[in-house]
Amino acid sequence: MTKRDFLSAGDLGRDELENLLELAQRSRGKRTSQVLAGKTLGLIFFDRSLRTRVSFEVAAVQLGGHVINIFADREMYDLEPEEQTVMDGRAEEHVKDAARTLSRYCDALGIRQLSRTGSWEKDRQELLLRSYARYATVPVVNLESSVEHPCQAIADAMTMQAHLTRLPGRRLSVVWTNNPEPKNIGPCHSLLRVAGMLGMSITLCHPLGFEPAQDVVTAATRDAQANGGSLRIVNSLDDGVRDAEVVYARSWGSPKYWEDAERESIVKRSLQSWIVDESAMAKTRNALFMHPLPVRRGVGASDGVLDGPRSVIYDQAENRIHAQKALLTHLLG
Ligand code: CP
Repeated sequence: MTKRDFLSAGDLGRDELENLLELAQRSRGKRTSQVLAGKTLGLIFFDRSLRTRVSFEVAAVQLGGHVINIFADREMYDLEPEEQTVMDGRAEEHVKDAARTLSRYCDALGIRQLSRTGSWEKDRQELLLRSYARYATVPVVNLESSVEHPCQAIADAMTMQAHLTRLPGRRLSVVWTNNPEPKNIGPCHSLLRVAGMLGMSITLCHPLGFEPAQDVVTAATRDAQANGGSLRIVNSLDDGVRDAEVVYARSWGSPKYWEDAERESIVKRSLQSWIVDESAMAKTRNALFMHPLPVRRGVGASDGVLDGPRSVIYDQAENRIHAQKALLTHLLG
């Protein structure tokens, strides 16, 4: 049997995504199952995490499995992802050797690596993640890369479905917010792909210069149109939130400024009004407020919105467990 990886939201077809969401909704409230009995999940973190690490661990344990967390920066050798290189630099081990070895110990691997080499063309290739997927003989799951955060997007879709029931045609606004540091664009990309497949009416709202990757926007637009939805782009916060049924706030660092973080930081000084606060939410159709977290309070969203009655941010965080139980069952069950 060939192994299945989950590296991108685009790895799922629409039917498969809907089946996964149904399984995730069913797994809510069920605390035990033995789908992963006797199996070990290896989670490798090259970057920090609260929700992804803990929710995967809880999900695996609730399915009867066992988890090994590896904090790569202090517990692993530096890895070489390039092919056919002479390894006389910093890297002491090739990814192929690490991936093949870990496949003898673990039944699935999760990798988080937010590569920021300064070159978008290089980082968008997800060299390390793709190299792990190529050489591991067990399923590999993307726990967030520079390009995507597909596990977050399944939990996001599950959360919207739980609150709105049917998603086709519902008005989702994906809103860029300010942040002093460049934040990863993966959650935005994966959400666009999943919302497109589900036929939502998407408004992508960002200041000029903070465009997501064009290939992701093109694929999401194509999927949305094929499923009865749409994707439009606006460059004003007021236009972005008007009449929304869901406001999904998130900051992201743009591919345009990938090679010049200082320039991005200067541009953002004039974008401090890009915060989702009560006045922005008042322009919506009593929208749900979503954010993948972590969030800087008073910068990306106001306390009143984050703690308000339409905020579902902790449902999103909890749904990571249920969505990942469904995913692990799908990959390993
Ligand atoms: N949303 C999310 O992935 O959170 P962490 O970075 O804490 O895992």
